[in-house]
Amino acid sequence: GTNRKYRLAIIPGDGIGKEVVPEGVRVLEAAAKKFGFELQLDDFDFASCDYYQKHGRMMPEDWKEQVIHHDAIFFGAVGMPAIVPDHVSLWGSLIKFRREFDQYANVRPVRLMPGVKSPLAGRKPGDIDFFVVRENTEGEYSSIGGRMYPGTDREIVTQQTVMSRTGVDRILKYAFELAQKSPKKHLTSATKSNGISITMPYWDERVKAMAKSYPDVKWDQYHIDILAAHFVLNPDRFNVVVASNLFGDILSDLGPACTGTIGIAPSGSLNPERKFPSLFEPVHGSAPDIAGQGVANPIAQIWSAAMMLDHLGEAEASGAVIAAIERVLSEDKLRTRDLGGSANTQACGKAVAAILG
Ligand code: NAI
Ligand code: MG
Repeated sequence: GTNRKYRLAIIPGDGIGKEVVPEGVRVLEAAAKKFGFELQLDDFDFASCDYYQKHGRMMPEDWKEQVIHHDAIFFGAVGMPAIVPDHVSLWGSLIKFRREFDQYANVRPVRLMPGVKSPLAGRKPGDIDFFVVRENTEGEYSSIGGRMYPGTDREIVTQQTVMSRTGVDRILKYAFELAQKSPKKHLTSATKSNGISITMPYWDERVKAMAKSYPDVKWDQYHIDILAAHFVLNPDRFNVVVASNLFGDILSDLGPACTGTIGIAPSGSLNPERKFPSLFEPVHGSAPDIAGQGVANPIAQIWSAAMMLDHLGEAEASGAVIAAIERVLSEDKLRTRDLGGSANTQACGKAVAAILG
């Protein structure tokens, strides 16, 4: 027996979510066996368009009670636009988790892996290795604003950015702590305080204040426009990049794009205080165009499992899963078709699990 026991909500969702989540679970089970912790895995069929077709809603009324006591949510992907409009499926499921479980930190590793061609010339594995941390609950994505005199010459539209001290400080604290834990101990803040002259200077002010509590972390800041250019020109410069909701949204797509393929990029939506479960999922969607063929790349899902293990306190297991992923990606016959390999989804997942075992 062990007191390292984790209760996980497993939610495959739609499309290739149903194919890649089982591979993630396979690897989690192999890691548990190897590193001596226990898993309780509870499967849920909601947050899917199949569930919607049966019940007329994406999730049951008591979804929150069913999931809230889990240590984490392991999520596949949601969306079947041919059956349910995307805004209905997304807002009826994922967005509810993010909002109601206060998952304010969205984290995406950006790392160039072996076997993956970077669209940036001359970059090899090891050259690009950083995290994008996005604020996920306020900022530019606010519901304060409105429209006056619609349809007339006087039409007026406003939408106000909202930055609270609580909201800004907690994302900065998370990012500084992540930087402090990493070998490079470096943080970059995305700003635009030259143009956005009220909220962004406030963001900068809070960065400066927070930095005082982390004297061993070196930090800098860039305006978002030149920062985007540096992601492409000098990606080796970064370690932890922290950004507001809008800037983080853009950077967290640009970063993984610089390291190759959608099939391997993972993400975490975290409630760092652990008052609520955090959610781990691939960056990609349900890929209806290839669903059901067994060809989807399971690495993004498996890497998401590694992030989840780290969050649960199993750092060693997390590192071992990432190392196993790197080994699998460096072999043609173990990679999936999207990476020029010949393995199917299951063969690729089994290869990662076998290295752990
Ligand atoms: P997508 O990420 O599902 O697919 C984009 C392209 O990448 C497709 O050609 C797909 O075949 C390919 N692809 C994606 N994941 C792959 C993998 N693991 N292996 C190999 N190829 C892969 O994005 P798309 O097509 O815009 O959206 C499809 C559905 O997914 C929509 O309903 C959308 O709303 C939903 N979606 C859900 C997300 C989530 O659950 N967090 C995120 C993004 C989209
Ligand atoms: Mg996005």
